[in-house]
Amino acid sequence: MKPIREQVKNKPWVGWVLFFASMIVVFFLGLLASSIIERRAEAVFTYTPQVKLSEWEPRNSVWGENYPREYQSYYQTKDVSFKSKYNGSAMIDMLEVDPRLVVLWAGYGFSKDYSQGRGHYYAVTDVRNTLRTGAPGVTEDEPMQSTCWTCKSPDVPRLMHSLMDSMGTKEGVAEFYRGNWSRWGEEIINPIGCADCHDPATMSLRITRPALTEALSRMGKDVSQFSHQEMRSLVCAQCHVEYYFNKNKFENSNYLTLPWDKGLSVDAAEEYYDEMGFSDWTHSMSRAPMLKAQHPGYEIYMTGVHADRGVSCADCHMPYISEGGIKYTNHKIQSPLNNVANSCQVCHREETEKLVRNVYERQDKILQNRDKLEELLVRAHVEAKKAWDLGATEAQMQSVLQDIRHAQWRWDYAASSHGGSFHSPVETSRIIATGITIAQEARIKLTRILSSFNYFDEVPYPDIATKAKAQEYIGLDMDKLNSEKKEFLNTTVPDWLEKAQQREDRWGIVRL
Ligand code: HEC
Ligand code: HEC
Ligand code: HEC
Ligand code: HEC
Repeated sequence: MKPIREQVKNKPWVGWVLFFASMIVVFFLGLLASSIIERRAEAVFTYTPQVKLSEWEPRNSVWGENYPREYQSYYQTKDVSFKSKYNGSAMIDMLEVDPRLVVLWAGYGFSKDYSQGRGHYYAVTDVRNTLRTGAPGVTEDEPMQSTCWTCKSPDVPRLMHSLMDSMGTKEGVAEFYRGNWSRWGEEIINPIGCADCHDPATMSLRITRPALTEALSRMGKDVSQFSHQEMRSLVCAQCHVEYYFNKNKFENSNYLTLPWDKGLSVDAAEEYYDEMGFSDWTHSMSRAPMLKAQHPGYEIYMTGVHADRGVSCADCHMPYISEGGIKYTNHKIQSPLNNVANSCQVCHREETEKLVRNVYERQDKILQNRDKLEELLVRAHVEAKKAWDLGATEAQMQSVLQDIRHAQWRWDYAASSHGGSFHSPVETSRIIATGITIAQEARIKLTRILSSFNYFDEVPYPDIATKAKAQEYIGLDMDKLNSEKKEFLNTTVPDWLEKAQQREDRWGIVRL
């Protein structure tokens, strides 16, 4: 090939082509450089603090001034439009879907009202709306305790710390757990947010709920020693765990406690509760001393293959997104099936449709057996009631009631570990299978007791085809509960909100 100089000499147009080609390249390089500089400036602007955040600032919008992307994505948990086969962001009235639950929880608040959860944005609204919290200010007695607020709001660590400052660390926390639910009605108004999981000075992840720190420390673990990846699950374990109210720790205090001292499994927690003779309520039909499982999401998750491979909750529920060249964590915590591309396909090469099918397949199969166990439990409660009606004695019934307690505990543990059928299908199936065995054991014993009273027929299965029928069957006056709730929402709640607004107005915002 001839040197360029000679080529241009022979064919002058080659020179012009080279000239314009380089001009075009220079032009686009210039554009790229200017765009990079602009993005940099944007990034610097994004992370330049606009306001001063106090250590326990509960107002998410104030944090949002410094971190607009995370705030805006957090705010999208308001969206209730997504629905998957069994879950999603819309509220689902589970008693309507599955009226057997009403009988399983007879004598306990959950039989009045139980809906499947929605986004974090609604945490405070939903705890006010549920019939379970009753109608303080309208009725004399109150069904729930102050402790019920603990997993709803960054106002919780704010209040705890102000009590700790005035009463000392231990007494301060115990004081938060004292009294009825309405005690903190005007104090707790901001839904789950930034201060629950972040230290405002460094933005690193932090644990703000004492129950988790205390449970880990009783197991010989120190929160400050956990890895960054473990923290991406532990921030969720502040709330998505099994817990109970320990009344023996501090006087008049419903001290929030995780039953992990013997281990994180369903069997270990059962043994823990049995040993201390704890029960949440006495079933109104079978009179069994019942346990209500809360939501052992973290415990079940930890037994699955993703946890085993070191995947964290945030990997699937808070994937990174990229916007204008900036990568950040999507705070729209939701069903990952609404965002398979970022939630799953960063690790899996399979098509979306196949991954979704994998999830549904696990859920379908587990629900089959879970539904069977529910039916067996309804039968056991009804048969136990028949036995009492015929004159069975405490001594005769004791072991039956213990079986009912254990079988229902296992059912509830599996059912309320939201996402468990996918997070850990094998362990979830095992728990349900053991529940089925124990429930059948109880029914064999019941058959013997019934026959000792010359009762040999099948005890009829109640007509509980709808939520309304089931609630009538267990004797709930729903009209009364609903109208009291309505009045509470129209009178007490606006009063709480007004007082809270005055408090936050006094705080103001400190601009930098
Ligand atoms: C301060 C307590 C708290 C913390 C911390 C918390 N959650 Fe939640 N979460 C809740 C409550 C309460 C609800 C139900 C809200 C409702 O229904 O009003 C919920 C609901 C959810 C839902 C259901 C959303 C929907 O659209 O149906 C998912 C998923 C979820 N949380 C995942 C997580 C993950 C993942 C983490 C950790 C990164 C986490 N949560 C941390 C309390 C918490
Ligand atoms: C349930 C816990 C939780 C809540 C509530 C939460 N975050 Fe986060 N946040 C996380 C996790 C997990 C990460 C990822 C941290 C990591 O891997 O370093 C994160 C990361 C961040 C980061 C680091 C940059 C990034 O995007 O990765 C910022 C800034 C942030 N969050 C701001 C906020 C703000 C503002 C709010 C309130 C509107 C908030 N967070 C609420 C858990 C939470
Ligand atoms: C951070 C990486 C990561 C993410 C994100 C992730 N996975 Fe996985 N997944 C794994 C690993 C690792 C395994 C274990 C199998 C292996 O080691 O090859 C696994 C296993 C599985 C399995 C088989 C395990 C079983 O239950 O039988 C399924 C199904 C699956 N993943 C679906 C999903 C879906 C659906 C999502 C999104 C909601 C997802 N994964 C997100 C890494 C990931
Ligand atoms: C490998 C991905 C993955 C990981 C890791 C993961 N989840 Fe999930 N999670 C899912 C999938 C998939 C579902 C089912 C969603 C559906 O059915 O729409 C789910 C469901 C849930 C739900 C119920 C959601 C709803 O819409 O009602 C909650 C709550 C939840 N997960 C919390 C957690 C917590 C807490 C952790 C960590 C301890 C965690 N998840 C870890 C993939 C994951």
